[in-house]
Amino acid sequence: MGIDKKFIDLFHKVSVKAALASHYFVGKKDKIAADKAAVDAMRKELNKIDMKGQIVIGEGELDNAPMLYIGEKLGTNNGPELDIAVDPLEGTNFAANNLPGALSVIAVAEKNNLFNAPETYMDKIAILGSNKNVVDLDNTIKQNIYNLSEYKNKQPHELTACILDRPRHKKIIDELIRLKVNLKLISDGDISGALLVSQEKFNIDIFLGIGGGPEGVLAASALDVFDCYFQGRFIFETDKDKLRASQMGIIDFKKKYELNEIVSGDSIFCATGITTGDLVKGINIEDKKFYSETLITHKSSKMKKIIKSLQDIG
Ligand code: FBP
Repeated sequence: MGIDKKFIDLFHKVSVKAALASHYFVGKKDKIAADKAAVDAMRKELNKIDMKGQIVIGEGELDNAPMLYIGEKLGTNNGPELDIAVDPLEGTNFAANNLPGALSVIAVAEKNNLFNAPETYMDKIAILGSNKNVVDLDNTIKQNIYNLSEYKNKQPHELTACILDRPRHKKIIDELIRLKVNLKLISDGDISGALLVSQEKFNIDIFLGIGGGPEGVLAASALDVFDCYFQGRFIFETDKDKLRASQMGIIDFKKKYELNEIVSGDSIFCATGITTGDLVKGINIEDKKFYSETLITHKSSKMKKIIKSLQDIG
């Protein structure tokens, strides 16, 4: 069936309005206020859409309301049943400190087609090209780099890896340095980090490392349209995580998920810049108008492009 093209404009509007709302808090040192502004704007816009929407990836669960919580129903209750994943403010530190790369992100799939996961970490790996036999979370770093180097016909010192700069990644980073792979170490924002493999122009050959699970699902829904390979394994550490995961139907806690297991069928992904980053420019207000850039993908129409828009501030 697919998701009608008219929904592209509607979800574009949702991420733009969330980005604009959050933009007013850029550089104010208040992550919570910046996040809340994006959440409130997103909820308001989502509730205007003719759909039976439900959050499957959100900001916490019912207890954490008023965030957009897992299970929350949105829309007018008329129209298609849609699964919705949101990260209204991806990169709360970026927004609070006026640093590059803050985004408002939303992904939508037909009901039961978007992975429904609790909020835990995820081990991730992504490359451009859908060949399944190049990289794998169970390979050593050396094996992945050698395979990738052969696949891309490049020497390891000609490859660049993007990874969150965290102490937990010390061993991986040391090994990449030993292999002479170039690094792009990001301080936050691993949705954007993962998406940097999607086009040669970003010059990132591999994204890897542990980041948020929700961010993994959101990135996967865009990578799916860019002909990329992605693997993610949720990390269920505590008994509480494991219990929650089994309540959600997850039996194998060590399973590696591939793109088609995270998102299937048709999907729409929108990421609007709040501050200018690698993927898109941030919100810019001039007189009574504001400029925005949004990376949008729509699977069934094979759309993957940046939409630039100049609108009146309503
Ligand atoms: P927030 O927008 O919630 O601040 O998340 C930013 C982020 O860098 C994500 O992109 C990433 O997946 C996650 O945090 C990594 O978590 P941690 O900072 O705990 O390593």
